[in-house]
This record gives sequence, C-alpha cells and structure tokens, in this order.
Amino acid sequence: MSHPAAARREDLVALYREARGCTACPLSASRTQVVFGNGDADADLIFVGEAPGFHEDRQGVPFVGRAGQLLNELLMENGMSRESVFVLNVLKCRPPENRDPQPDEIATCRPYLDAQVELIEPRVICTLGNFATKLLTRSSAGITRAHGQPQLHSIGGRSVRIYPLFHPAAALRTPRVKEQLREDFSRLPGLLAQACEPPPDPPATGPAEQESRPAADQLGLFG
Ligand code: URA
Repeated sequence: MSHPAAARREDLVALYREARGCTACPLSASRTQVVFGNGDADADLIFVGEAPGFHEDRQGVPFVGRAGQLLNELLMENGMSRESVFVLNVLKCRPPENRDPQPDEIATCRPYLDAQVELIEPRVICTLGNFATKLLTRSSAGITRAHGQPQLHSIGGRSVRIYPLFHPAAALRTPRVKEQLREDFSRLPGLLAQACEPPPDPPATGPAEQESRPAADQLGLFG
C-alpha cells in the first residue's frame, strides 16, 4: 500500500539526516561528505548510479560532473528535467581514486538504497552501469547484455520496471556506447508513460473519488 507523499518525504529527510553521519564503513574516513541523492522525492523515475566521484564528493550532489551533464542533456532531449526525477548512487560515499565499489561497501550501504526506493516509490528505475544493474536486477547479467530491456520486478511489494542503461561515464569514453545510450534513453518517455498508466477503472458503484497528487517536490540539500 502506498503511503502519502508528504509522509514519505519526511521519512526520506530523516533518512538523509541519518546517512549524513554514517560511519558504517571505512569510506566515511576519506569522504568529504555523504552524497545522499537529490531530486523530486515523489518521482516516478529514479536513476541509480555507482558512487560519487570527485565533484560529487565536493558538492554533496550526485552526477554534477561531466557524466551528470550528459545525463541532464539526455533528459532534456527527451522532454524531461533533472528536477522531475530523483538521482542517487549505490554507494553514498566516494571510493578513493574512484576505484570500483567493493562488495562489503555495497552490502553496508544497501539499506539506504532499499529505503530510498521504498520511500520514493518510483514506477521506473534506470540503473546506470554494471554495479547498479546487477544489484537491483539480482542477476549476474552485465550492462552489455541487459541495457535497453525493461524488466518487471517486485520491490517492497510494488511492481517496478527496472530499465538498465549504460553508465554516462562509459558513454563519454566510447562514441558507440553513447549512441546506444541515446537510443535506449529515447524509449524512456514511452516506458514511463506506460508504467504510470492508471489501473483499469473498477466497476462503478457511486460518485468517483478524485485522487489527489501533491505537487512535485524538490528534495534538495537540507542545510
Ligand atoms: N558517477 C556515478 O556513478 N555517480 C555519480 O554521482 C557521478 C558519477
């Protein structure tokens, strides 16, 4: 059962406050700050990347470097904005020298990711790159095989479409990957529209009740 957006947002803010002081793994010693994620706390679409890089660690916001610029560009090309989605990472702290996330770091950070997905209640999750894709699809199939193919999963009792995409950083390194990412991205608005279709009307028994949806809300930094 879905909870009211305002209550979910409050819980997300509480989770952010908790995460901000996290010392559960050694990455807490080398980070500048925790990069919790940002965007619309009630977004239908979320993006899950790998881990903060240099700029993200400095600014406390995910995907603000070159990979983030490409992500923003692709969103705009497809009629979406960064403000209308939520962006987060598997790891909330930067690994030194941007090395790959380690299995124990992923396992330690996982409860934050699970709680974020549960509280935001997205309809579509775009996993960016191998780490997020393997983790959330619970499959060993890597991004080269899985990209561009939506998968229906049940997360926290809700059905969610997971849509694996190449990581924008990989796209910046290889033109062919960028083309593929652009092509996969172009199918996202249709997938989102389909995922957001209301369920068929129940048989009429009385005056229809209008479902109210709170205005989009920007979960920024909380100071
Ligand atoms: N790459 C990621 O996976 N996440 C970021 O936030 C930035 C770059």
